[in-house]
Amino acid sequence: MKYHIITFGCQMNISDAERVSAILESMKYKKTPNVNEADLIVITMCSVRQSAVDRVHGLVQKIKKLKAKSPNLKTILTGCILKKDKKIFTMPTGRQVKDFDYVIDIRDIKKLPKILAWSNSHDRRELTTLKSPNDYLNITPKYSSKFYANVPIMTGCNNFCAYCVVPYTREREISRPAEKIISEIKSLIKNGYKEIWLLGQNVNSYKDPSTSFGAAQDKGSGQAINFPTLLKMVNDIQGNFWIRFTSSHPKDFNDEVINALAIGGKITPYLNLPVQAGDDKVLKDMNRHYTSKDYKNKIKKLRKKIPGIAISTDIIVGFPGETKKQFKNTVELFREVKFDMAYINKYSARDGTAASKLKDNISIFEKKRREKVLTEILKQTALEKNKKLVGKKAIVLINENRGKNYFGKNEHYKTIKIKSDKNILGKLVKVKITEAQPFILSGSILPARSEAEDKT
Ligand code: 5AD
Ligand code: SF4
Repeated sequence: MKYHIITFGCQMNISDAERVSAILESMKYKKTPNVNEADLIVITMCSVRQSAVDRVHGLVQKIKKLKAKSPNLKTILTGCILKKDKKIFTMPTGRQVKDFDYVIDIRDIKKLPKILAWSNSHDRRELTTLKSPNDYLNITPKYSSKFYANVPIMTGCNNFCAYCVVPYTREREISRPAEKIISEIKSLIKNGYKEIWLLGQNVNSYKDPSTSFGAAQDKGSGQAINFPTLLKMVNDIQGNFWIRFTSSHPKDFNDEVINALAIGGKITPYLNLPVQAGDDKVLKDMNRHYTSKDYKNKIKKLRKKIPGIAISTDIIVGFPGETKKQFKNTVELFREVKFDMAYINKYSARDGTAASKLKDNISIFEKKRREKVLTEILKQTALEKNKKLVGKKAIVLINENRGKNYFGKNEHYKTIKIKSDKNILGKLVKVKITEAQPFILSGSILPARSEAEDKT
């Protein structure tokens, strides 16, 4: 039996898909990149913006055609799904065929073998009775890469930012026991992994649930392990690897976290700190619990402790009621902070969220204009920063190639393009930066000799 998996969205979804793959492969399913030869199609969907949901609707049409050809084809929808969409996707369509055979809550994914053993006659009501304890994170995943790995430390969210679906699709926060996280990472490092991503919707909320381990590891203080302590524990694992994490909430990004990052070691000098907006009224309406000044002060502290740290952010333009004047405050923050990278999103109303009750009154035209304004500033600030790296050395973890062009990330999470005749995929290579563009740098591999010189 063959399965084909399609994944949308963030690293957490990719990580979830790796767990789905692990379960299917334990049932002797083999992965196929060819959807036409699949006996089972799994979609790990994202609901953060409507455009991602629309892509699943687009796939439904394709799947229906495949089902008409192979009636035994089974389809599963999982990942981040809104209640409203769960209903839509399981509703019988005009052709008396459900869009998906099963719509499964990601936290129920351990039940997949049981679900697949069911006959077609089982209906949705039985799925909802399956709601299980949240131990799916402890399924050993089938990692999609041989050199970098996503390791969830927590999932879910209690913050209820006004625009966000996550508290509804992933429900409340749960943290994974530190013991399990550390043993997963140790085994990854033994197997040669070079980059470990600690994942969570809000990693700063991490709290080890197993207090006995917390007390033992926390030098007997009896305090549960929090995110800074976990970072230190991961940093203490023997081996040559990088630690990255995402995502952080500015309201919880405190001195303790900054001090933990400042240890350096394997913790890379890169931080994604989503600001979402630079206007205090908009931030309040978004339920973010910080002001633009708070955010800028945290960045200042961070840069003082870790000079040269690369910082990226997430922004939403066109939140309901965001005036041109309020947007200007975001522009000002953008100019002042000078981000290395930013993920700029046009506001998309999501069913059930607090903001969905407000009028989505900014036109798509205006949202696009605001997106463009910020992108132009970003191009300037990113280029300014990247130009300073030309002529400098960097270590790059190569994660992709197109022919002889290899691409990788340096410690600061900048993309670097390198030409090589040798296969360097998955290798940490030392390069000299030769050229800078806003979102990409070029580099040339340093000869082995200069590595030796470097050590002396
Ligand atoms: N509309 C637009 N962007 C959104 N994001 C989250 N929810 C929405 C929404 N409703 C963005 C935020 C978040 C990123 C993952 O997606 O910027 O940080
Ligand atoms: Fe969504 Fe806010 Fe939670 Fe992030 S912190 S997942 S934006 S509700």
